[in-house]
Amino acid sequence: MTIKKIGVVGAGTMGHGITEVSALANYKVSVVDISWDFLNRAKERIMESLNRFYEKGQIKERPEDVMKRIEFSTSYDIMRDADFVIEAVPEIIELKRKVFETLDNI
Ligand SMILES: NC(=O)c1ccc[n+]([C@@H]2O[C@H](COP(=O)([O-])OP(=O)(O)OC[C@H]3O[C@@H](n4cnc5c(N)ncnc54)[C@H](O)[C@@H]3O)[C@@H](O)[C@H]2O)c1
Repeated sequence: MTIKKIGVVGAGTMGHGITEVSALANYKVSVVDISWDFLNRAKERIMESLNRFYEKGQIKERPEDVMKRIEFSTSYDIMRDADFVIEAVPEIIELKRKVFETLDNI
């Protein structure tokens, strides 16, 4: 199976980094969090990091072009066609169970 699109649940410390490296590795990435505050913060952190890499010549692709492979949403619907999903929500077992239940449902 060829993986083209990766889903990331939770856009915090781990989630935004996983999103960034996945997009840099040329995957499309769908990121879900519970509010736009978290998603916008993740966007900022990813842009800042990509800009640093670009300025140092560590990546050749323009940050805005890498960003085009990432979509953000508060709805799990954007993950319907994901080939692979990575969960990065807080270490609360009930929350993690709920996330996998939701993923099973879609
Ligand atoms: N931070 C680290 O250095 C580190 C290292 C190894 C493993 N981990 C593990 O990674 C996981 C995530 O940790 P983190 O540090 O990124 O946490 P974090 O608090 O920075 O981010 C978690 C994100 O998940 C979001 N979230 C909460 N409920 C959600 C839901 N139902 N659906 C979608 N998003 C939801 C939160 O809003 C938040 O943005 C944890 O299991 C943690 O133990 C973290």
